[in-house]
Amino acid sequence: MFGDLSGIGRRFDSIGANYLLHCLPGAMADKAAAIGNLAPLLNPGGVLFGSTLPTDQPMNAIARRLWTTYNARGVFSNQQDDLEGLDRALRAHFNEVRVERLGTGATFTARVPKMLP
Ligand SMILES: C[S@@+](CC[C@H](N)C(=O)[O-])C[C@H]1O[C@@H](n2cnc3c(N)ncnc32)[C@H](O)[C@@H]1O
Repeated sequence: MFGDLSGIGRRFDSIGANYLLHCLPGAMADKAAAIGNLAPLLNPGGVLFGSTLPTDQPMNAIARRLWTTYNARGVFSNQQDDLEGLDRALRAHFNEVRVERLGTGATFTARVPKMLP
């Protein structure tokens, strides 16, 4: 996922990853690889920001049913996603991380990649 981004050929002041991570297959530790592939595309001082839908959030029966159906169909892959794992995945690649719960979702920002060239 986002394995070869070398062809992009430029960097960005900000990169948005909104409502994406909960769709990527695997555990949050696997999704950290995608975060790591985005980190080198930021300019110095840049920010990776986004939102996602972890499963360790309060949700009503309708949302729970939607979660279950979407995971069964492969639309979502977030049954193992939680806020702590999201925070850990971001901190694996960034020095400044903020993760906040927002209703049934989570928002995040990450700055200062650990491997700035
Ligand atoms: C809910 S949409 C969000 C789109 C956009 N970020 C927005 O906020 O409008 C989820 C996005 O994740 C992408 N996506 C799902 N699985 C993916 C994967 N395995 N690798 C890369 N992108 C994926 C889909 O193509 C889709 O664009």
